[in-house]
Amino acid sequence: MNAVDPSVFLSPGYFVRAAVASWEKAGAARLRHRVFVEEQTLFPVHDRDAVDRDCTSLVALSTYAHEADEVVGTVRIHEPEPGLWWGSRLAVDSRFRHVGRLGRELIRLAVSTANGRGCHTFLAHVQAQNVEMFKHLHWQVEEEVVLHGMSHARMRADLSAYPPIADPAAGFLALARRVPPPAEIPW
Ligand SMILES: CC(C)(COP(=O)(O)OP(=O)(O)OC[C@H]1O[C@@H](n2cnc3c(N)ncnc32)[C@H](O)[C@@H]1OP(=O)(O)O)[C@@H](O)C(=O)NCCC(=O)NCCS
Repeated sequence: MNAVDPSVFLSPGYFVRAAVASWEKAGAARLRHRVFVEEQTLFPVHDRDAVDRDCTSLVALSTYAHEADEVVGTVRIHEPEPGLWWGSRLAVDSRFRHVGRLGRELIRLAVSTANGRGCHTFLAHVQAQNVEMFKHLHWQVEEEVVLHGMSHARMRADLSAYPPIADPAAGFLALARRVPPPAEIPW
């Protein structure tokens, strides 16, 4: 019998795409709750707001036997006025941080999707501890602000670093970082 211990299994690949199926949207909502309400206590009860009524939700899905398995990352984008896009609620499940560059890939899909829809400006309020990561990903700080009692920076993406994507529902595959092989193989 083959058995996989789910506590040590690491998905080798991740689909990064627009959430279409209801289980993907529900998984994104649950992940946001875990991260922004339970882990960060940024919101006391729930993190839903008016933007959820008119946004595109993007997800990173772990895979099992090459099939989509679980929502392990999410971000949403919306366009409050023509050409102006915002990204928000970027979250990667704590078990999957730093394993597949999922934060980076979700940001890539977010900005490239907006770029493909006629974006001229893409902004996000970025938590202070993530500003360096966003700078590394071709964003620049416009202003420092306090939101929900926490330091943030309003940052702007360099659109030239994010070529347009026409079909975010197709998305792309992100591979897990290479894990070094065990030092000794006992046979
Ligand atoms: C922020 C977050 C989305 C990053 O997700 P992740 O999948 O671990 O990030 P990635 O692996 O894609 O990291 C991309 C790069 O940024 C680096 N990085 C990640 N987090 C960083 C941080 N806080 N500061 C500086 N660099 C960081 C990574 O090392 C990686 O660099 P590399 O490509 O040169 O190796 C995740 O930590 C998270 O969900 N945190 C809690 C919620 C949160 O803070 N949301 C964002 C609100 S603005």
